[in-house]
Amino acid sequence: MGEIVHEMISHKEISDKIDKMAAQINKDYEGKTIHLICILKGSVFFFSELAQRLTVPVTIDFMAASSYGNSTESSGKLTVKKDLDEMIEGLDCIIVEDIIDSGLTLSLTKKILAARNPASLKVCVLLDKPDRREVSMEADYTGFVIPDKFVVGYGLDYAQKYRNLPYIGELEFIED
Ligand code: IMP
Ligand code: MG
Repeated sequence: MGEIVHEMISHKEISDKIDKMAAQINKDYEGKTIHLICILKGSVFFFSELAQRLTVPVTIDFMAASSYGNSTESSGKLTVKKDLDEMIEGLDCIIVEDIIDSGLTLSLTKKILAARNPASLKVCVLLDKPDRREVSMEADYTGFVIPDKFVVGYGLDYAQKYRNLPYIGELEFIED
């Protein structure tokens, strides 16, 4: 089995969208400092582009977490592979993630971080696949709503490949 990547969202479209998202965040957080939390690894490119467009003061931190659930346990479980370095109590935090799919990873991550008493906690995602939702989870800032297709690029991977593509593409599997 091989794969072909079909471009779905160009680098220019992503870049224009991040401009708009950053402008909205700059407006919403005027006079505040944002503590920007990158969920590794998928959101690194989105995170760094977004952070560079923010004009309000920003501090950053990184976390790696993945979720697994099963049909009988809709709440799922979160494995934190790397926790934040800093405490977030009293900070205005925005979690930056690549995609909301089932919603499990973000809803569990949000729950864990909310328990640490940040001043505020919002979620910013580049992509949203609402058709696949298993738990209720909506981002405060969303780049693109996409159909139920497996996508790679701009941080997103298939078996750790394709993260470095400068665009978002749909993955097609082909027989060798
Ligand atoms: P959720 O917990 O199901 O919302 O899953 C979110 C995580 O699944 C993301 O952070 C991605 O790592 C991964 N994921 C979901 N959909 C895709 C996709 O289309 N391509 C690549 N990774 C995906
Ligand atoms: Mg991810």
